[in-house]
Parts: sequence; C-alpha cells; structure tokens
Amino acid sequence: MKVLLLGTAAGGGFPQWNCACSLCTSDAPHRTQDCVAISADGRGWYLLNASPDIRAQILGSPVLRAGPGPRETPLRGALITDAELDHTLGLVMLREAPSFGVWGPDAALHAMRGALPVGRYGDWRFSPVAPEIGGLRVSALPVSDKKPKYARDSTMDGPWVVAYRIEDPATGGVFVYAPCLAAWPPGFDEFTDGADYVLLDGTFYGADEMSGATRAGVGTQAQRAMGHVPISGADGSLARIRDRPGPRWAYTHLNNTNPALAPDSPEHKEILAAGAELPLDGTLLDL
Ligand code: MLT
Ligand code: MN
Ligand code: ZN
Repeated sequence: MKVLLLGTAAGGGFPQWNCACSLCTSDAPHRTQDCVAISADGRGWYLLNASPDIRAQILGSPVLRAGPGPRETPLRGALITDAELDHTLGLVMLREAPSFGVWGPDAALHAMRGALPVGRYGDWRFSPVAPEIGGLRVSALPVSDKKPKYARDSTMDGPWVVAYRIEDPATGGVFVYAPCLAAWPPGFDEFTDGADYVLLDGTFYGADEMSGATRAGVGTQAQRAMGHVPISGADGSLARIRDRPGPRWAYTHLNNTNPALAPDSPEHKEILAAGAELPLDGTLLDL
C-alpha cells in the first residue's frame, strides 16, 4: 500500500495567513493542512480527510494528477475522520467529480452535508465506513464526540470523530491514521497493535501553548476544548509511545503554535529522541 502525506498542519496551515508570530515568520518548513492519500495498487487513490489545500496538494503530487483519459482521475473517494472544516472543505473543492464515494461517521457526514454543498453537483455516495474500500481493509475506532463549532447545536449521537486502521491484505502492511485525539482513547493500544506506521494528533506540543506569547488571550481551557491531547507532559501522547517497540510513530496536524515545527527547537529534537517522527508534506510510505 502506498501512503502519501499530502499535508501535515492543523487548520489554517503553517504559516497561518493571519499570524505573524515568531514561528510563522521563521524559516521552518511550510506545511499544508492535514490530508493523506492511500492506494492499494498505485492507480486508484483514496483520501483520508479532504483539506482546503486539496487542489494544490493534488497538482503537486504526480500520482494524483488527472489522466490517463482526458477526464479521468486516480481519485476515487475520501474517508473522513470528522466533520471539521479543515478536514472537509476539500470535498467542496472536488465538486467537479461526477461521482465520488465519501465514508465517515454518521454524525460527521450528516453535519457536513447540512452545512456544505458537498456532492450536490454530481452522483456522490455517502456511506458508513465499509470493511473493504479499494482493495484495502478498513476499520474505524471512535475516539471522541467533539463536534465542529458550526454543528455545536446538533443532537446527533456520536461518534463524531474516529481513527482509521487500514490494512493491505496483499502486503500485510498496516497504517493507522489518528489526527484528532482528545486523549489516548480506550482500545487504542489494541487498535495500533501490529501497525507499521501510526500517524498521530500532533496539534499541540504543550497543554497551554495557546495561552503563550504567540496567542495572548486564548487560555488553556479554550485549548483543551479543542479536543487535542498534547504531545508533552505526563498525560501527553509522547509518554505513551516513548520507546514503545513496534510501529513507527509520527505526528501530523501540527498547529502553528507548536514549537516542534522548528527543526532546530528542543521540542522537535525531544520528539525525535523519543523515537517518533515529524514527517513533512510529500512523505511517501510503502507499507
Ligand atoms: C480542530 O482540529 O480542532 C479544528 O479543525 C479546529 C478548527 O475549527 O479549525
Ligand atoms: Mn483540525
Ligand atoms: Zn503563528
């Protein structure tokens, strides 16, 4: 299975357009918004989430460019982990697709379709997560019930957010994608058992980084309400994976406040020293 990391930043990307903090004005590598493409055969590709940057991400990835027929494209569909705008606005950008499959948690699909004109321009299918998509085995683990701000008043039952485990029956390769974790979820150790590569929520390095100098006025509680477990600290994700044998652990969905964005920062070096990775946009895995 091929896994292409199209974007690795949180909503807004890095640098963020309205931010002139020391990180956003530094020479740390730019990152587009979190999005992944997977393929069993290298010909048909499926997105994991659909970022607002999807057009540039497709045009920048030769394997995703249109062809071989004049109106053919290797993109077949998308699996969404949640209905947040940074994970779904890309579907609006893909509206020219005459047909497309979209899979995800019920509540997320429902909220998204109520708020956005997704799939109204073609013959699109919306379905609960299926056990097999494009020759790959798929399972979903509910990880939180955090609703997007625009769907705050929804009365739909969760889960609102899931993680995906994708297995290639031909190679045995296993990829886990978990870009939105409010905490280390129950069952996540089993869910990642035997995985080759796990892509984790790396939004925040610290539990209170949004109240720091870069974002004065946004407090720790507001950050917690965003539903992203920090990387550092006793309850952070790095403590869970430090020196844990097995998968390669990597972080995505990095927010523009995350000091680990800077390759020469102590935070970046600490993550690498613990055995985890901070892959850049364009990273291609063969699992
Ligand atoms: C999140 O990851 O928490 C959301 O994407 C935040 C947002 O609305 O941008
Ligand atoms: Mn997000
Ligand atoms: Zn910034």
